[in-house]
Amino acid sequence: MNTLNSETAVAIIGLGNIGKAIATNLVKGNHSIILASRDNEKTKVLARQLGNLATASEIAYAIKEADVIIPAIYFNALKEFFKNYSTELEGKIIVDVSNPIAPNGNGGFKKIIGESESAGKILSDLIPKNAKLIKAFGTLGVGSLLNAAFNEPDKKVLFYASDSTNSNQQIEELITSSGFVPFNVGGIDQSIKIEVFGDLHEFGALGKPVTLAEAKSIISHF
Ligand SMILES: NC(=O)c1ccc[n+]([C@@H]2O[C@H](COP(=O)([O-])OP(=O)(O)OC[C@H]3O[C@@H](n4cnc5c(N)ncnc54)[C@H](OP(=O)(O)O)[C@@H]3O)[C@@H](O)[C@H]2O)c1
Repeated sequence: MNTLNSETAVAIIGLGNIGKAIATNLVKGNHSIILASRDNEKTKVLARQLGNLATASEIAYAIKEADVIIPAIYFNALKEFFKNYSTELEGKIIVDVSNPIAPNGNGGFKKIIGESESAGKILSDLIPKNAKLIKAFGTLGVGSLLNAAFNEPDKKVLFYASDSTNSNQQIEELITSSGFVPFNVGGIDQSIKIEVFGDLHEFGALGKPVTLAEAKSIISHF
């Protein structure tokens, strides 16, 4: 579905730290959003807080109404989410924000998939029929996602990985509306670079949000 002003219709499912931050940035960028979670009351409260551009919905209906679905939920829960909503997700663009990590017992985090694996690649093989998976919005911690949005004079970058060139325009529109500059790192097989511990993740070699010029300089050294 396209809304009247032809902006990309986006649904954010799961309203924890990252779901709320993505929603907040999109509304700040004047982009309408559909919100949904397993707790309809919580969804309505957040929609009211965010104002007229946010619409509270139920999960299945939110997916049907949107072109781009952002399930802001954990890697392990995404597999079940794909199964539960396989019909509604058919043909949709699904944005994977997940980082496949868990506490390591020493106050840090460890990867819960193989060292050379990425959540993006694993999940791209599990998505429902005709859906497309794009890896995005997961390269910064929640603090930076909120604080580095709409940075002036130079906007910071949000990296994304995608096999679907037809969908890149929509994801770039959403990243731009969120107050960042979109930067395509290549196909889904490049997801590992933009997940936790990766070369282009805040909690990997990147270390902090970067501008477009900084991102280009880093990539030129790969
Ligand atoms: N936090 C960060 O700094 C950060 C940065 C980059 C990427 N990420 C990624 O973002 C994702 C969410 O992280 P978070 O920090 O936002 O976690 P969070 O605050 O714990 O929120 C996770 C949300 O997922 C929902 N959820 C869980 N299973 C679900 C299901 N089957 N269907 C629908 N909703 C479900 C939960 O809903 P209920 O409230 O109903 O339980 C909860 O609101 C993770 O994949 C994480 O790796 C996080």
